[in-house]
Amino acid sequence: MKNYKILITGGAGYIGSMLSTKLIDLGNQVTVIDILEYDTRSLSHLYLNKNFTFYKKDVRDKKFLKKIINKFDCVIPLAGLVGAPLCEKRKKDAIEINLNAVKDLVSMLSKKQKIIFTNSNSGYGIGSKQKFCDENSSLNPISLYGRTKVDAEKIVMKFKNAISFRLATVFGYSYRMRTDLLLNNLVLLSMRDKKLDIFESNFRRNFIHVRDVCDGIIYAIYNFNKLKSNVYNLGMSKANITKFEMVKKIKKHIGKLKIKKIHNVKDPDKRDYFVSNKKIEKKGFKAKIDIDKGIKELIEVYKAHKDFINNY
Ligand SMILES: NC(=O)c1ccc[n+]([C@@H]2O[C@H](COP(=O)([O-])OP(=O)(O)OC[C@H]3O[C@@H](n4cnc5c(N)ncnc54)[C@H](O)[C@@H]3O)[C@@H](O)[C@H]2O)c1
Repeated sequence: MKNYKILITGGAGYIGSMLSTKLIDLGNQVTVIDILEYDTRSLSHLYLNKNFTFYKKDVRDKKFLKKIINKFDCVIPLAGLVGAPLCEKRKKDAIEINLNAVKDLVSMLSKKQKIIFTNSNSGYGIGSKQKFCDENSSLNPISLYGRTKVDAEKIVMKFKNAISFRLATVFGYSYRMRTDLLLNNLVLLSMRDKKLDIFESNFRRNFIHVRDVCDGIIYAIYNFNKLKSNVYNLGMSKANITKFEMVKKIKKHIGKLKIKKIHNVKDPDKRDYFVSNKKIEKKGFKAKIDIDKGIKELIEVYKAHKDFINNY
């Protein structure tokens, strides 16, 4: 199998720390640029590996990026302010990091280099009851976060050697843990409180395990020509479920859990849709790790590391 030189910005993050590790395990040379905003140890296990390089740098440092960019076969820009609340709080940074820095990065690439982008599928908004959203469904993001991601995707996709993945709601353990993500969060609250208040319980979502996200990106690196110049939804087809169905799965694994449906609270995140992942599946990649396995893993992790629960 050919080994590549890969640059991952934001590689110390939730997706990036797992992806960097998997790519190193496959024998690739991985360089990460990250300001280590959250977890300073998420890549500690890689520092001694000869195929790993780390720069504590800001993706807005154009001069630095220009100096190193031509070394890489493939660039994966994951650095960002992630999620609507954070982008609302830091609007200027959100535009600079999520959008302008991606635009600058694309402008530095030579024709031979490749780029793989991760968008959110949250812009599909409220889908119709019968239909699944596919890649032709319109993206109308309601948050600044969503808009920066959609605009960045448009810029990336003007470049010929580009692939974009629109990710379902990600779950599962990572070296940089995110307890804010819906399933990760509800498992934590269920273990802590033994009760869950759930609003908009009939809202539908599509999910994907973080290791499947990494495997999807890795599949794209190794099958680039088959996939390039296209956008793909990346989620698990079996994991198109309502919030209530998800909570029932959590209860199955936790045992004692009081679930209360709340009717008069609206979810500011208007996501309510099922998503079709047929396009990427037809190209040969299918997510494998189901929600039950993800919940079991999360329970083990939260039991072993009580600080996730205590510090939440
Ligand atoms: N996790 C999801 O559910 C999800 C869904 C869709 C899309 N995405 C996209 O995937 C990417 C990674 O998401 P994540 O969940 O791993 O988020 P994360 O917050 O865990 O990781 C982002 C990383 O970027 C770094 N960073 C932030 N600003 C930076 C800057 N100016 N320069 C260098 N590094 C900087 C942070 O330190 C962090 O390590 C993001 O672009 C996000 O929009 C994630």
